[in-house]
Amino acid sequence: MRAAVRHSYGPPEVLEIRAIDRPNCGPDQVLVRVHATTVNRTDCAVLMAKPFIMRPMTGWIHPKRATTGTDFAGEVVAVGAEVDEFEIGDRVWGFHDEGLSSHAEYLVAGRRENVAKMPAGVSFDDAAASLEAAHYAANFVKRLQVHQGDRVLVNGASGAIGSAVVQLLKNKGVIVTAVCGTPNIPRVETLNPDEIIDYEREDFRETSTRFHAVLDAVGKSSFGRCRHLLLPRGVYISSELGWGCQNPLLALMTPCLRGKVVRFPLPTNIAASMQQISALLTEGKFAPLIDRQYPLEEIRDAFGYVLTGEKCGNVMLTFDAN
Ligand SMILES: NC(=O)c1ccc[n+]([C@@H]2O[C@H](COP(=O)([O-])OP(=O)(O)OC[C@H]3O[C@@H](n4cnc5c(N)ncnc54)[C@H](OP(=O)(O)O)[C@@H]3O)[C@@H](O)[C@H]2O)c1
Repeated sequence: MRAAVRHSYGPPEVLEIRAIDRPNCGPDQVLVRVHATTVNRTDCAVLMAKPFIMRPMTGWIHPKRATTGTDFAGEVVAVGAEVDEFEIGDRVWGFHDEGLSSHAEYLVAGRRENVAKMPAGVSFDDAAASLEAAHYAANFVKRLQVHQGDRVLVNGASGAIGSAVVQLLKNKGVIVTAVCGTPNIPRVETLNPDEIIDYEREDFRETSTRFHAVLDAVGKSSFGRCRHLLLPRGVYISSELGWGCQNPLLALMTPCLRGKVVRFPLPTNIAASMQQISALLTEGKFAPLIDRQYPLEEIRDAFGYVLTGEKCGNVMLTFDAN
């Protein structure tokens, strides 16, 4: 089978497309033919071992897994002897943020990879694009603890996480102000936010609106610069550690002050996020933004584009055999 392979950490150029043996599934695993997968920001972290904190999971000196890829949607083509919940032909999806080698035509998956049946009536592309960012978005939204009628500002609403956050908040009846750049406004409008601020024309920090929460889904702001936008017990969450790892530190300190707080959610329980998103996809209440599609052979270009920080939603890999 064709797979993206690397033996050291580094930029996209360390990746090569090679013909390697198809993996064999263990007794508690299934063999999946991959129909869709993304190149996402977690893949970039796994590829380059940045931030350094990735290394206990991905390998201290060399990557534990030669093939990159953290999410997939595909079809079961073989089933291990102890597996009774899947059959050959089932459409399945899965995600694991430390990697599951999905940048390949086939992969093996089990409980660790959170393999589950795909939501009915959903395409392979839409399923794969509703995993990585949607999982982080679900965790962030849960930790905002906002309710129907509350106001939330989402910075970076055109990103994969930001666009998922906007949709999850709108499903809760939250009033959403989305911040994005001029070219991405038409795509962000499809998410139905209540207001859009174009950051190329207006500094969102100058709005007179006050919010129950500010969620910076691209980590371009700071608590200090957004504090005045929050109502008295408002919550600030950033998807990034922040300068000097300030966000996790402030998440420890600010709750003691009984005022505006920073939270720094460590995303957990992937299976629960997948169940939540699966229900929304089936009901037509969630639709991932998809930006570019690259053939597997152009995976370096796909990583290069994701690393620009300019993608609008998700970047997909395609497999011409599918
Ligand atoms: N905490 C975690 O567990 C975790 C997990 C995964 C990822 N992350 C981090 O979360 C962030 C978002 O990931 P993602 O995949 O959603 O990102 P992404 O899709 O790459 O986000 C890029 C988007 O952000 C927009 N953007 C860039 N600068 C902006 C600014 N100053 N103001 C507003 N929008 C801006 C870009 O639009 P323009 O080009 O128009 O500016 C682009 O559409 C990344 O920084 C990633 O490292 C955190």
